[in-house]
This record gives sequence, C-alpha cells and structure tokens, in this order.
Amino acid sequence: MSNDRVRIVEVGARDGLQNEKILLPAEVKVALIDRLSATGLTTIEATSFVSPKWVPQLADATEVFRGIRKVPGVSYPVLVPNLQGYERAREVGASEIAVFTAASEAFNRKNVNASIDESIERFVPVVERAKADGVAVRGYVSTVLGCPYQGEVPLRDVVRVAQRLHALGCYEISLGDTIGAGTPAKARAMLRAVAQEVPMRALAVHFHDTYGQALANILACLEEGVRVVDSAVSGTGGCPYAKGATGNVASEDVVYMLHGMGMDTGVDLDLLVATGAWLAAQLHKDSASRVTRARTAA
Ligand code: HMG
Ligand code: MG
Repeated sequence: MSNDRVRIVEVGARDGLQNEKILLPAEVKVALIDRLSATGLTTIEATSFVSPKWVPQLADATEVFRGIRKVPGVSYPVLVPNLQGYERAREVGASEIAVFTAASEAFNRKNVNASIDESIERFVPVVERAKADGVAVRGYVSTVLGCPYQGEVPLRDVVRVAQRLHALGCYEISLGDTIGAGTPAKARAMLRAVAQEVPMRALAVHFHDTYGQALANILACLEEGVRVVDSAVSGTGGCPYAKGATGNVASEDVVYMLHGMGMDTGVDLDLLVATGAWLAAQLHKDSASRVTRARTAA
C-alpha cells in the first residue's frame, strides 16, 4: 500500500473508560495518559466535558486534564457536546476538542437528548469560538454501520452528516461503528461513499469490536485509503447509550497488524502492550487485546 504512515487516535482514556463499571480514580487516569504519552502516540483523547449526570465515569475531566503531563508534539483532544462543555475545556487549557453526533436520529436522541440537526446547531457557536481561539475541532459521526435502536442506517445519512461536520470546520471526521455491527465490505462501501464528499485525508475510522470484525474492517478501510485509525489501549469501552456495544478495537492489536504490514505508526508496541496490561490490572480484568494476552502468557 502506498503512503504507509498511519496515525492512531488513542481513545482509551475517554471512549474506553466512559463505559467501564469500575470508576478509576483521577490519578490512575492521569497515569494512564502519561504512560500513553511515552509510547509515541501523537493523538491521545484525554476525557469528556459532557454532563457528569450522563457520564459519571468522566466527571473528573477537569482534574484529569489538569493532571496530565502535556508532551510537546502530542495533542490531547477532549469531547465537548455544547458551549458549556467548551467553556469547561478551555478553562483547563484544552487546545483541541471533538464534537459528536450520529447518522441515526434514534441513537442521537438517547446519547445527547437532541435530534441530529439540533446537535449540529449546538456545535455552530462552539466551532465559531474554537476558530477564534485557535482550537482544532474534530468531528465524530456515530452509528455509521448500524444503530441499536433503528437498525440499518442509510449510507446517505452517514454522508450527509459527515459532510455537514466537515463544512462546519471539523478538520477530521471520525466514522464510528458504535455497536461494532459492520463487516469489511460494508465498511469499505461506507468509507467510499463518504470519501466522495469529504476528502479521504480528512477521514478517520472508529471501530468497536462487538463481533470481532474491527481489524478486518480497518484493513478494508486502509485498502480504501484511510490513514487515521481510532483505537483504545486494552480494548476497553463502549458507549453507555448504545446497548450491547462492547469495547473499541485494541490499540495494541491495530499497531501489531500495521507494523506486520510494514506500515509505520511511530508507536512503540512493547510500551503500548505494557500499558494495556497495566490498565487491565487497574480494571481487574483481562485485556481485550489479543497481542497483550499472547505476550503476557508467553
Ligand atoms: P440535557 O440533559 O438535555 O442538557 O443533556 P441540558 O442542557 O438540559 O442540561 C441539563 C443539565 O446538565 C444542567 O445541569 C446543565 O448545566 C448540565 P442542572 O441544571 O440539571 O444541574 N450540563 C452540563 N454539565 C457539564 N458539562 C456540560 C453540560 N451540558 C449540560 N457540557 C447533554 C444534553 C448533551 C449535556 C447530555 O446528553 C450529555 O452530556 N450527553 C453525553 C453523552 C455521552 O458522552 N456519550 C458518550 C460519548 S459519544 C460516543 O461514545 C461515541 C463515539 O465514541 C463514536 C462512536 O463510537 O460512534 C464518539
Ligand atoms: Mg466509540
């Protein structure tokens, strides 16, 4: 494959921890992010400035963001649903945010208590403020390959929402298979459709591994040309508002696959595996990463 550099967007500290039953103390989250910063990752989503009533696991966002060591060259985006979240994020000095909506109306209602259009309307002043403040904005589209409430999600809805976020000023659109329902041919077709309207260099893929399809889906999307992949160390996570959604694809497994294909991530796999094993111990469970399990057993 030409152009063999892939950027990993590590979402474990946010997407990973937001759905874990065990509430980790803020200092453990800080230690996790500091460890991740030492692996060579260049984008580490740190936390979420959403309503603590909706996602109590990340109620300590301020403390966590303040506590992490900001390594030069690494960006630490945070999730923001509205202006209130933006203000909280700016108070602690966040210089990159991510806004999020969905391709399915039913899911978006459950997740942010608003229609897709309403949620995008909320982003307009957020993005305006971000532009004025020199803050980079990433956009997520959820349920791109299926919705827990609506079932099938028409491709035209995915394309429409991705296009709107891009036109609004998001520098990158992450296409989220929130419930991990996708399979490679569908993932490829979805990415191809979106890439007709949004440049491929502005797209990322975000797979949950509910049915064990995430790596296969990523491979199909790499073949299609995408070069940004979201993943979570130790394969933690899921969305509290998507019933049945399990963990994100494990970063260790993605990096192992990419390096095995001769692609470059800039990530030290050994350090990442050690971090995955450490996080699993904090959560008192086995890592969902195949690579971490194999290495730990060896
Ligand atoms: P709402 O209840 O409709 O909001 O929630 P509201 O504006 O009516 O406010 C209600 C209360 O929340 C008020 O407090 C506000 O101050 C407070 P009260 O007066 O009752 O004490 N509030 C806030 N507090 C702190 N920070 C804020 C904030 N905003 C309002 N930013 C809202 C609407 C959007 C806030 C809520 O639905 C919410 O926070 N949802 C977040 C859900 C979430 O985080 N889901 C997971 C992330 S998305 C995901 O995981 C998918 C992804 O990984 C991609 C994929 O896999 O597909 C990205
Ligand atoms: Mg997710």
